Amino acid sequence: MSSENPYILEMQNISKSFPGVKALKDVSFRLKPGTVHALMGENGAGKSTLMKCLFGIYMKENGEIHLNGEPANFKNSREALEHGVSMIHQELNVVPDQTVMENIWLGREFTRRIGPFHLVNHRKMAEETRQLMKQLEMEIEPEGRMGSISISHQQACEIAKAVSYNASVVVMDEPTSSLSDKEVNHLFKIIRSLREQNVAIIYISHKMSEIFQIADEISVMRDGELITTAPASELDEDKLINLMVGRDMSQRFPIVEAVPGESVMQVKNLTSSDPKSFKNVSFDLRRGEILGIGGLVGAQRTELVESIFGLRATVEGTVSIEGQDAGIQTAKDAIHCGMGLITEDRRGAGIFPQLNIIENTSMPSLDRLTNKVGLLDHKTLIQKSTEMNEKFKTKTPTMETKIRSLSGGNQQKVIVARWMMTLPEILIMDEPTRGIDVGAKYEIYCIMAELAAAGKSIIMVSSEMPELIGMSHRIMVLCDGRKTGELEGEERTQENIMRLAARFGHDDFKEEEAS
Ligand SMILES: Nc1ncnc2c1ncn2[C@@H]1O[C@H](COP(=O)(O)OP(=O)(O)OP(=O)(O)O)[C@@H](O)[C@H]1O
Ligand SMILES: [Mg+2]
Repeated sequence: MSSENPYILEMQNISKSFPGVKALKDVSFRLKPGTVHALMGENGAGKSTLMKCLFGIYMKENGEIHLNGEPANFKNSREALEHGVSMIHQELNVVPDQTVMENIWLGREFTRRIGPFHLVNHRKMAEETRQLMKQLEMEIEPEGRMGSISISHQQACEIAKAVSYNASVVVMDEPTSSLSDKEVNHLFKIIRSLREQNVAIIYISHKMSEIFQIADEISVMRDGELITTAPASELDEDKLINLMVGRDMSQRFPIVEAVPGESVMQVKNLTSSDPKSFKNVSFDLRRGEILGIGGLVGAQRTELVESIFGLRATVEGTVSIEGQDAGIQTAKDAIHCGMGLITEDRRGAGIFPQLNIIENTSMPSLDRLTNKVGLLDHKTLIQKSTEMNEKFKTKTPTMETKIRSLSGGNQQKVIVARWMMTLPEILIMDEPTRGIDVGAKYEIYCIMAELAAAGKSIIMVSSEMPELIGMSHRIMVLCDGRKTGELEGEERTQENIMRLAARFGHDDFKEEEAS
């Protein structure tokens, strides 16, 4: 590191507009080598946009970027990569039909020459991938099809890919959104070892606890401006939240006033048709109740709720609504029974990128808003969609804006708005606040509390323990596809959830017991 320039990356007075939004206003950001620099801010603050300007995905309108003291105005991501800047994108960029190794080495495949031909050297590619996985202590088969591995493994592949460029700056835009705690710890190990090799890491996450574990410095963005940069040691969660939202947020969860009433849904001995998935799960859901489902990644919570919703097949057991077997075979049946499901995989299954916000919000409500002669009530549809999105403070220039141009977290708000608009009696939410900032999380919690108070029932799958404890009347825990217990009242503690989540000779648990 030369004495006159302590920064590996300097971005000065960067501005960027989109139709109707000034996404970046004169942003200046500096990065020191060998540090982890967290970039924080509410949904739509401009974090991803700033990084995309660095990476040459967006053209900045103003400003200068210097890398190692040299001007660095990359025109595309290839140029950025060639100059040692790599990025893990918020939206997973995988090609599902290709293998893991093809995804990792995409665009820089190893070739061998046979006469005049250059052929892809699969053997070498597999070997290099194996080497990379070994170095990162990841257990992922190079020749597996990307589309057939779990989202958490896909995310791990993206991490491996970013590392494989031997970059001096690595941008991680919400790299842990689909990782288990164990995988997050593993990623942190990788990050620390990169830091030791003097790599600088820009780390974007909404998970407060992660930030204080890993960051050396923290920059906060709000409404397209960079508000402050400070050493992590000078900030704490409350100060940081205050900077991000511009107000005090002493209250993280609203008070859930609803008192659960009679049982509205009965799940009995439900068993997946996939022998590796859940078995023999029984539980009741009561009117006005928020039932949390906890467990580790891989506990089959998503599989369970998707099966209840008719998206997956079961071989045994019943789902009854008010005592009657509901006979749900498809999602349409489930919607007919008054259920709504906010899926975990919002990008794959959730959004219609080409459609605007009104269309995305109203999709499953179209039936309800069509009159007897088959005419759609457009006025009500626009009004209701707009109201719902205003309630969530979805940040968008207009309601006609295509959903794909919203920030990641704002896309999620639209999906939540969509299911709220169907007025479900039973709302299933799978990781409802993943990728959503603290302010918007609070909005979602308030709406959950309101729904419960109005006699609706909610099932919430969540990996965030404070959220499970803060919002649920009762928490059911799964481990390896089995129900390991239910926690109520005072029993709802992090320790109890962890204990139940790691039962059944789970690998993590064995390790702990052994040590
Ligand atoms: N391609 C685009 N077209 C139009 N507007 C865009 C585009 N990309 C981003 N924006 C807008 O720019 C603003 C900043 O978005 P950005 O994605 O940078 O937010 P973010 O801080 O990464 O938020 P999140 O935490 O939700 O990911 C938002 O208002 C967003 O709607
Ligand atoms: Mg973003």
